[in-house]
Amino acid sequence: MNKDVIVACDFAGREQTLNFLDRFPEGEKPFVKIGMELFYAEGPAMVREIKARGHRVFLDLKLHDIPNTVRKAMAVLSRLGADICNVHAAGTVEMMRAAREGLGPDALLIAVTQLTSTSEERMQRELLIDADMPTTIAHYARNAKEAGLNGVVCSPLEAGLVKENCGKDFLTVTPGIRFADSAADDQVRITTPARARELGSDFIVVGRPITAAPDPVAAWRRCKKEFLGI
Ligand code: C5P
Repeated sequence: MNKDVIVACDFAGREQTLNFLDRFPEGEKPFVKIGMELFYAEGPAMVREIKARGHRVFLDLKLHDIPNTVRKAMAVLSRLGADICNVHAAGTVEMMRAAREGLGPDALLIAVTQLTSTSEERMQRELLIDADMPTTIAHYARNAKEAGLNGVVCSPLEAGLVKENCGKDFLTVTPGIRFADSAADDQVRITTPARARELGSDFIVVGRPITAAPDPVAAWRRCKKEFLGI
């Protein structure tokens, strides 16, 4: 799958989501991320409807449970036709293998290493992980690769580290993106689309700089242009 911008559709419901997608002209179909809020509000029908409109979909549900449950849940999700699904790498290699089996080979499967909202200090003090953050991320990414996953979610600043450990074809899907002239909101370590490309991101996940822009279509085009260098 080629590099692309994935728009985080962090909307509360179907109407808001479709109002947003309706702003895009026919023939310009952003790659869409559906997260827990929208999925829990509207259910699997929302994924089917957005797929039927011709969008590619990253279903960001971050599964983390016993391997048998994750295998069966992923088998159910595989029927929705999402292009990317994900799990927490903390669920172990066995759980990630089960997820891969359940999802099948058609969709990409990626893992969250450590959430970017988790600081190194909290990871060590609360989760009792002794290693530093880069060591932990590299190790979790190698676990994901060993389990047959296609890549990880990480900060663009960690994309190089992941590629060094897992190879250049192992995908990095990176949030925390802001235009040079846009608000940081609650994101702390932010990167521009052009810098994310330089750092080796395969997919950037962009929410508010596009969804809250006065002209979301223009913001999405600008983001694609900067990230893809076209
Ligand atoms: O609006 P913004 O561009 O900050 O949205 C980023 C999206 O990426 C949100 O859906 C957020 O939940 C998601 N995300 C993130 N950091 C992670 C994992 C996911 O910002 N580590």
